[in-house]
Amino acid sequence: MQLIATRAGILLSPLRVLGRGLVGFCCVWMVSLGQAAEPSAPANALAHLGVGTCAGSNCHGSNSLTKRNSGVVQNEYRIWQQYDKHARAYVVLQGALGQRIAANLGIGPAEKAQICLDCHADNVAPSLRGLKFHLSDGVGCEACHGGSEKWLGPHASGLTPHTVLTRDDGLYPTDRPVARATLCLSCHQGDDTRFISHRIMGAGHPRLSFELQTYTQIQPAHFVIDDKYRARKAVATGVQVWAVGQALALKSLVTELADQRHKGDGVFPELVFFDCQSCHHTTTNLRWQRRAATGLGPGVPHFNDANAVMLRAVAARVAPALGRALEMNIRALHQALSAGNGRPAPIAGTIAAEAQELCDLMSTYNFSRADMRAMIVALAQTSQTSDASDYAAAEQATMAFASILYSLKMDGAVDAGTYGAMRAALENCYTATRVQDAYDPRAFAAAALSIEQATPSW
Ligand code: HEC
Ligand code: HEC
Ligand code: HEC
Ligand code: HEC
Repeated sequence: MQLIATRAGILLSPLRVLGRGLVGFCCVWMVSLGQAAEPSAPANALAHLGVGTCAGSNCHGSNSLTKRNSGVVQNEYRIWQQYDKHARAYVVLQGALGQRIAANLGIGPAEKAQICLDCHADNVAPSLRGLKFHLSDGVGCEACHGGSEKWLGPHASGLTPHTVLTRDDGLYPTDRPVARATLCLSCHQGDDTRFISHRIMGAGHPRLSFELQTYTQIQPAHFVIDDKYRARKAVATGVQVWAVGQALALKSLVTELADQRHKGDGVFPELVFFDCQSCHHTTTNLRWQRRAATGLGPGVPHFNDANAVMLRAVAARVAPALGRALEMNIRALHQALSAGNGRPAPIAGTIAAEAQELCDLMSTYNFSRADMRAMIVALAQTSQTSDASDYAAAEQATMAFASILYSLKMDGAVDAGTYGAMRAALENCYTATRVQDAYDPRAFAAAALSIEQATPSW
């Protein structure tokens, strides 16, 4: 497992960046919420005209740092081009690691392989590519905002605010948590259109980890939420975005797990659904403990239930009965996969439906300060048990603490002193999860407890 050790830094880059993100990119604390029905996936039926068409200095390529009359800062292209890794997503395919992965898989140059381009570029059908469209622009504006075929003209000539455009115009509702989660997860976890297998990981691809609120901030955000923004968009709190992201990540993971196309090769199941460290950690560091949440014995890989562990803390506040049902079904899924008949499909379907139900409830739930405190306590307490001892769960809990802390700050619930103490405790969590191969569940448990202790009660 040499590669994992040497790539530990990259495996954990989001958490490394987040430490900076909290201070550096603090302009975005919340995102918008809308009421209209959500699309199931980004629509790609309209032509994508290319990043170049958005980048004019009178459009989104200005050097401005404050909002223009249009209601947006108009420097979005510059932020994307200079700081956003999406702008480099294609170029990394041509780098040493990209080429190594492709060579190991025997798929020819990575920058020509559809499997890689589907996530590392705006890989729409050639017939939908405008004159200024270049695959080499990586994950460009239209990969997230939708093909601009119908709206670029009127929009650019009169600077029509995006808000007067409707979904029929092809603008994707990135402001709505559910739609955003669907969009980001399609690449950051994979879905039925773009799937990343353990074979690709085995060839050297970094492990994927994702949390909607955290990643929205560290992208870094190229939008500013102020009164003008609020006037045109309903804004969801960070904690709501986090919760919706967890529910939809779990839903998508179990849906793919049950998909016969991903049943694995030979006698082995598709390993990407399992906790990576249940196989990838050294045998001299003995740390297996019985877990009530799985009911499994030693020596078997277990399903990556990090999102489910997070959801337990939310469900306990939002819908306790549903939370208990979900917990039972997750246990049944663990059993079906590793101790039972190996056929997860029926139980995965039930879990997906429950995650969706939770998502619907959370989309309109008004999280109070007491709720947020209770979730911090629940996550910190679960971290004291073997149920949340996986590295993936510790990483998710760290991002959860960060997202909840954002919301508390935005809500005016914490004064500067309390914020400083909670932020310092959060730093302990980053430290405990920074290097995957050095991860020690006991160190994380202590760090999680320090967050709980720093959280006031309301
Ligand atoms: C399901 C979507 C998906 C697929 C398919 C995929 N990738 Fe990735 N890849 C990602 C994401 C997301 C990241 C960033 C992970 C992170 O940092 O959180 C990434 C990261 C990488 C990196 C590291 C980039 C860096 O900045 O260090 C390389 C190299 C890479 N991918 C190459 C490939 C190659 C080659 C293929 C094709 C065999 C491929 N990827 C297929 C989504 C995907
Ligand atoms: C990885 C996905 C992603 C990419 C790539 C992306 N955006 Fe965004 N963009 C978002 C999200 C998420 C938001 C915030 C939610 C919202 O307001 O819709 C946003 C917001 C915006 C806003 C502010 C909208 C408002 O109402 O204030 C503008 C303008 C914008 N993006 C332009 C661009 C441009 C131009 C590019 C390319 C240079 C780009 N975006 C690339 C995801 C993306
Ligand atoms: C078309 C696929 C695609 C979509 C959609 C997408 N991403 Fe990404 N994202 C990538 C790839 C590929 C990378 C890795 C690029 C690299 O490392 O060069 C990446 C990198 C990132 C990173 C940097 C992670 C790191 O390790 O530093 C963040 C943050 C991020 N994405 C957030 C988002 C958010 C938030 C959304 C949804 C609004 C989103 N992405 C939508 C493909 C995508
Ligand atoms: C059931 C056990 C198991 C699980 C779970 C598992 N892997 Fe693996 N992994 C393996 C085996 C076996 C190999 C092949 C080792 C070899 O050929 O030397 C491997 C190889 C790898 C390699 C290449 C190592 C090298 O030396 O080049 C990477 C990277 C990797 N896995 C990442 C992951 C990630 C990320 C996850 C979680 C999403 C994961 N694995 C989950 C068993 C597992």
